[in-house]
Amino acid sequence: MKRNLIVLAAFAATAAYAEPTARDVQQVLQRDFHPRGQATMERLAQDGVQRVCTETRDQPPAALAKQLEADQMKTIAFPSGSLMGDWKNGEKIAQSGRGSMWSDKPGAAAGGSCYNCHQLSPKELSHGTIGPSLLRFGKTRGNGADTQKYVYGKIYNAKAYNLCSQMPRLGHAGTLTEQQIKDLVALLLDPASPVNQ
Ligand code: HEC
Repeated sequence: MKRNLIVLAAFAATAAYAEPTARDVQQVLQRDFHPRGQATMERLAQDGVQRVCTETRDQPPAALAKQLEADQMKTIAFPSGSLMGDWKNGEKIAQSGRGSMWSDKPGAAAGGSCYNCHQLSPKELSHGTIGPSLLRFGKTRGNGADTQKYVYGKIYNAKAYNLCSQMPRLGHAGTLTEQQIKDLVALLLDPASPVNQ
């Protein structure tokens, strides 16, 4: 009986299907998200850039995108000196997707989830493909000061380079620390890193 009802409901939903608007999605999220610990309702709030990308379906007018990317660039705190940390730590951070859960200590360092979207070390066979492969990144792009700065900035705030990037703003959001980002720069650029073998 219950099963028939579910099948009926699913059928009715298909028949009356209308593309959900961004507002519909927000309403469902607001209704179903249960705030707990450090995971407060604030997590559902979009900032201006996210709103522009949602409302334009990731196709903002070019001039506006350029302006907003410049604003995002100003959020990046580039440390002085070398940006290359320790690739071995970087590999651990890239592997880890843990952190920022309601049960975690607020401010505790989290993982970078890089493998969720990118191929990096050829030793890791399980990786996502939402982002481009970063295999041999340092070998093909070099590892000079400009490339170090680009990779640091991209990890800190990907939207400074591509406004509607799907890559999380890991430094800007406080997910990763300065040292963790440097270790990831080394994972991508250090000639000794497995990424560049
Ligand atoms: C949710 C998916 C996602 C996650 C997680 C993610 N990225 Fe990305 N990344 C992307 C996408 C999509 C692009 C391509 C679009 C763009 O450049 O914004 C990208 C682009 C990049 C680029 C630029 C590549 C180039 O050719 O210039 C680098 C470098 C990078 N990511 C590094 C990382 C690192 C390091 C991590 C982990 C801290 C990471 N990404 C986590 C989705 C992701």
